[in-house]
Amino acid sequence: MTLHTRSLPALSALVILAACGGDPNSPGIEYMPDMYRSPAVEAYVDYGQDPYYFEDSAVVAQRNTQSARLPVAGTVPFSQDPAKAALNFPYPYPNTPEGYEQAGAELRAPLPMTEANVEQGKVIYEKFCVHCHGPKGEGDGSVVKNGGYPVPPSYTKADPPGLKSLPEGKIFHSLTYGKNVAMGSHASQLTKEERWLVTRYVQFLQNGGNMPGALPAETADTVATDQDTAAN
Ligand code: HEC
Repeated sequence: MTLHTRSLPALSALVILAACGGDPNSPGIEYMPDMYRSPAVEAYVDYGQDPYYFEDSAVVAQRNTQSARLPVAGTVPFSQDPAKAALNFPYPYPNTPEGYEQAGAELRAPLPMTEANVEQGKVIYEKFCVHCHGPKGEGDGSVVKNGGYPVPPSYTKADPPGLKSLPEGKIFHSLTYGKNVAMGSHASQLTKEERWLVTRYVQFLQNGGNMPGALPAETADTVATDQDTAAN
């Protein structure tokens, strides 16, 4: 059948009439539905878990979209700074007496003992520890002085029961898991980096408020003189 020009007005009238009538809310015939309804996938929305907005078939389809995916279990965040990358690795020592001993023997701080780190550790100590352990770590914080709370052992007294030579691995381990009932875990309040910084400050207090390794003034003079002599 050939389409004559004469029949065109009639055909258009038919199309126009077909577009009217019926349900006024109906969009009519969608001849390219994909163009109207593009799948708008928003970042950070897990469509797979929100059946409120989608019917089952859409949920199944959206499960294959790249949105709000949790990292695979055991994923370690990437850091270009090797010192920070080490902090991201999982803590390998279990919360057992053996784990405690092993941490004490093997675990070393990934942050150096510097004045800047001790300063940062001090800020944390004065917020989280001083009220029990006291300003110099002698177990005389305000909570303890008011009575009724177990007295923490002193960082400056020789062990036992003092903690003067408690190794950094055990300090970190006890901060991570807590020690007995009176010393709570600080793993949820302090990041690993913060726990190491405050560990550095505890070591500073163990050393009577001096940088460990720093020599008293007169010895330093002597060493300087010796070096001068050796150099000459
Ligand atoms: C609520 C009081 C309290 C707070 C807060 C507290 N401690 Fe303790 N801490 C104790 C007591 C009590 C002990 C002794 C626990 C025991 O050996 O039974 C202790 C023990 C320790 C030990 C020795 C652990 C070991 O392995 O023997 C270290 C180190 C320590 N605390 C560091 C800290 C640091 C650092 C902070 C702050 C981030 C802190 N504590 C916060 C009460 C506290």
